[in-house]
Amino acid sequence: MKKKILAYRRLEQPVYDRLAKDYDVRLFVDPENDSDFPEFLREAEGVIGIGFPGNAVILDKAPNLKIISNVSVGYNNLELADLTKHGVMGTHTPGVLDDTVADMAMGLMLATARRMPELDGYVKRGLWKGLLPNEWYGVDVHHKTLGIIGMGRVGSAIAKRARFGFDMDILYHTRTRKPEAEERFDASYRDLDDLLKESDYVLLVIPLTEETRGMIGSEQFRLMKSSAIFLNISRGGTIIEEDLIDALQQNEIAAAGLDVFAQEPVDPKNPLLQMKNVVTLPHIGSSTHETEVAMAHLAADNLIAGIEGKRPANLLNLNVLGR
Ligand code: DGY
Repeated sequence: MKKKILAYRRLEQPVYDRLAKDYDVRLFVDPENDSDFPEFLREAEGVIGIGFPGNAVILDKAPNLKIISNVSVGYNNLELADLTKHGVMGTHTPGVLDDTVADMAMGLMLATARRMPELDGYVKRGLWKGLLPNEWYGVDVHHKTLGIIGMGRVGSAIAKRARFGFDMDILYHTRTRKPEAEERFDASYRDLDDLLKESDYVLLVIPLTEETRGMIGSEQFRLMKSSAIFLNISRGGTIIEEDLIDALQQNEIAAAGLDVFAQEPVDPKNPLLQMKNVVTLPHIGSSTHETEVAMAHLAADNLIAGIEGKRPANLLNLNVLGR
C-alpha cells in the first residue's frame, strides 16, 4: 500500500503529480470543512502545505506522522517542541524565495512612496484631466535611508536592491550583528530605537517568534519620523496592528505598505483598508509561478527524505533525530 501524504490547503500541480507517482496524495483545500480530513490525517505519514497547525492537539490525532513539510520559509505555524515530543520532523523552504520576496518588498516600497495604487484609481476613474495637482505627489525612495529589521537572507536581498539599485543608505537591526551585510551593502548596525528614529523607510522582515511578537507598537511608532513609511512583509503578529492604525490616524508616521496582517484574510472592516496612505497586499511575498513551484519542489524533497528515513535538508527541529 502506498504511504499517505496529506497536502494542506495548496500544492502546485507539478509537485502534486510528482508525489502522486509514489504516494497516496490527497489535497485538502478546505480541511476544516472536509469530513474526510480526520481519518486521512490519522493515517498520513507526511503533511505538505501552507500553515498546517503543528501543535500537540493536532499531533495527537496524527499517530503515523513523520514530517510536516511547510511550503514557506516562515514556520510560526509549527510548535517545534511539540513536534519533537511527538517524533515529528518540521521543515521549511529557505533560499528559493529570497529574490522574489525582495522584489515584492521593493515594489511595495515604491508603490507606497509613489502612491501607485491611488494614482491607478485616479487614472481609471477618469480624474486625469490635466497636469497632476501637487497634492498627489509622492516622495522619493532613492538616496533615502532604509532601516531593515531582520538581516537574514531576504533582508540581505532587499539591502542589495536598495543599496545598488536605489543608492539608499542601509541601517539594520538584528539580534546578532552581520559583518557581511556591513561589508557588502555598507549597512550600519543600529539598536532598534536609533534605527526607528533615523530611517525614512522602516522595513520589518523578521520571523514571528515569542520574542518578536508585537515588537513594533505605539512606543516604536512614536520614535519614527512623521515622514516615515512603515513596511511589513514578515508576519502580522510582529506588530500591534491597532497601534499602527493609531499611529497613522495621529499622523505619527506618513504611510504604510503591508503584505501581512494580524488576521489573514484580512477583515474587510479593518480600518487599514479605508486609509489612502496604506497600500495592502494579500500576503504575496513568494507568489510568482516560478517561485511557488520551486518552493513546493523543495518542500517535496524535504518530505520525501523525512518519509523515507533520511534527514531532510531543511530540518528545523534537529533534536528530533536524537530522540
Ligand atoms: C513565507 O514563505 O513564509 C512567506 O510568507 C512567503 O510570502
